[in-house]
Amino acid sequence: MNDEYAESAEYIDILISPFWNDLGPALAAAIKDVDPSDGPIIDIGAGSGCGTTVIARYLPKAEIVAVEPSPGLRSALLAKVSADAALRRRVTVLPERFLEADLPDRLSLAVAMNVIGHFSPPERHRIWGLLAERLAPNGRVVLNLQPPSEPIAVPDTVSSTVDVGRRRYEGSARAEPTGDRTLTWYMTYRTYQGHDLVDERRASYTWHLLTERQLRDELAQANLQLRHLEPADLGMCVITRAKTQR
Ligand SMILES: C[S@@+](CC[C@H](N)C(=O)[O-])C[C@H]1O[C@@H](n2cnc3c(N)ncnc32)[C@H](O)[C@@H]1O
Repeated sequence: MNDEYAESAEYIDILISPFWNDLGPALAAAIKDVDPSDGPIIDIGAGSGCGTTVIARYLPKAEIVAVEPSPGLRSALLAKVSADAALRRRVTVLPERFLEADLPDRLSLAVAMNVIGHFSPPERHRIWGLLAERLAPNGRVVLNLQPPSEPIAVPDTVSSTVDVGRRRYEGSARAEPTGDRTLTWYMTYRTYQGHDLVDERRASYTWHLLTERQLRDELAQANLQLRHLEPADLGMCVITRAKTQR
């Protein structure tokens, strides 16, 4: 497997955590009334586990399956899970890519945060089919759509900075369109001690663009429907079974 996070794994948890200051409460609000007795929960592309821990906190009886193919990020995820006895009992970490993982037959919730752009249109088609088949009748999917949704260049911008001890860690990102429906994100991660740059890593990955309208159309084909969540700037939505027409 090509691990697009191999170079950046050391940086991801500390630099994505600040984004979870807003995403965490929004995810909590979207899932807190899920009935975990309907089936386990899957966290698709769980990364270092920022979302997994939110799910675990707000659904304390739920069984969670966290799917994370990147070995570096999975190490951070497993460390978070194993550090907490309650999480260790009820979180299973799977190392496969989502569509290759052996998943529970019935699901009360699927969460896909900051990940949907990693999947191509044919892969998304398979994902919606799989979720439509396995979601419990009252089950739901929570995901976010990240801008841009059109193939435009994004200038290099520092997205996150965190101080740890005497060092400052910084992540910046720029994007270039690579087709009608894809971008390549170019990420740069830097470590400073004082004013000295002591480490610099680069990573890049393809991101499949997805508008809300396109997502609605794809979901309708699988008999699923989408609803926006507030605040709108987080791009979060809830997906449920479409109401059957009489
Ligand atoms: C930007 S990170 C987001 C991590 C986490 N969901 C969060 O928001 O903190 C995207 C994650 O998706 C994972 N990923 C990429 N392709 C995947 C696939 N085919 N199946 C499952 N996860 C995948 C990556 O390894 C990475 O951990």
